[in-house]
Amino acid sequence: MSEIRLQQVTKRFGDIVAVDRMSIDVKEGEFVVLLGPSGAGKTTTLRLIAGLERPDEGAIFIDGEAATDAHPADRDVAFIFQQYSLYPHLTVFGNLAFPLRSPRRRLREAEVTARVQEVAQMLHMESKLGNMATHLSGGEMQRVAIGRALVRQPKVFLMDEPLSSLDAKLREEMRIELKRLHRTIGATIVYVTHDQVEATTLADRIGILEHGCIVQMGTPREVYGNPASLGAAQRLGSPPINVLPATLFDFAALPEGTSTVAIRPEDIVLHALDARDVLNFRVLEYSPLRHLLILDREGTAIAATTMTERNFVPGQTVGASLPPRSLLYFGSDGRRIPA
Ligand SMILES: Nc1ncnc2c1ncn2[C@@H]1O[C@H](COP(=O)(O)OP(=O)(O)OP(=O)(O)O)[C@@H](O)[C@H]1O
Ligand SMILES: [Mg+2]
Repeated sequence: MSEIRLQQVTKRFGDIVAVDRMSIDVKEGEFVVLLGPSGAGKTTTLRLIAGLERPDEGAIFIDGEAATDAHPADRDVAFIFQQYSLYPHLTVFGNLAFPLRSPRRRLREAEVTARVQEVAQMLHMESKLGNMATHLSGGEMQRVAIGRALVRQPKVFLMDEPLSSLDAKLREEMRIELKRLHRTIGATIVYVTHDQVEATTLADRIGILEHGCIVQMGTPREVYGNPASLGAAQRLGSPPINVLPATLFDFAALPEGTSTVAIRPEDIVLHALDARDVLNFRVLEYSPLRHLLILDREGTAIAATTMTERNFVPGQTVGASLPPRSLLYFGSDGRRIPA
């Protein structure tokens, strides 16, 4: 059974179609990351699942039950926003206990304390329970915000760029923390980010969003190795995939309708200059620490990663080949064309 199912869901804001006939299945316990450019409809998708927006068309199911018209409070879904909003006049304990003290829950105070202790331990925040919420680092505040969702033990967690306001080091720590949490509690998580490192390290499956549609849904490996569109190909990979005009290639060797050809930097093979079937490139830049070579061919810059011991200097000519089995072909609409 899938925990979350969107069936042909459309959401419009006036003339804008924010979500366009979107269908998704998220399995129980799965960590799904939605990745896409600004305005692609990521936040709107989460808000639809949470019940903060109502779809114009389509249906939403949570835990097998129709949820399209259910009130947000009846969905058993926790939403963690980009900007953590803690109650500044409460301690960490008070913030964590807050959702448990709602009249709907009617928990005894001993149960509240036990539950808060348990979550604080999970988040390594036991020693900070007495701190005022404002006397915390950014990472700690975000952990309390996550903890406030955890105490409720919801079926589903929705997270909208929860780490984007943290610095790089904290973000990395929190990423590991979140992964661990997911393993420990086995929750179903739908997570939105712009950050491809976050997406590839956290996700069981990545959903690539473009213009309100899921253009591809697959494991990070599937999306990386077998992208369905040029957009999906460019979304993952650092340095990014090379996108080259079809004119650089032998026209007869290209599948019909090809307008661009893409190749991952690590798939470019460097050769000795006198090897056969090798193209000549001019070196524009070389960064030995990143094993990154920027080459030029007829005014098009191409990134290549190489573990070679050779040294390169700007201006020199090198031989390289773009193996046909590593080439990805795309039409003018960005859709993948099979080789
Ligand atoms: N309440 C609203 N009223 C009008 N238009 C909206 C509203 N919410 C979202 N939109 C529009 O819907 C589209 C999708 O917005 P959404 O916030 O879902 O994008 P996003 O993928 O989360 O982008 P970002 O990465 O910038 O957060 C955008 O064109 C946005 O301007
Ligand atoms: Mg957003």
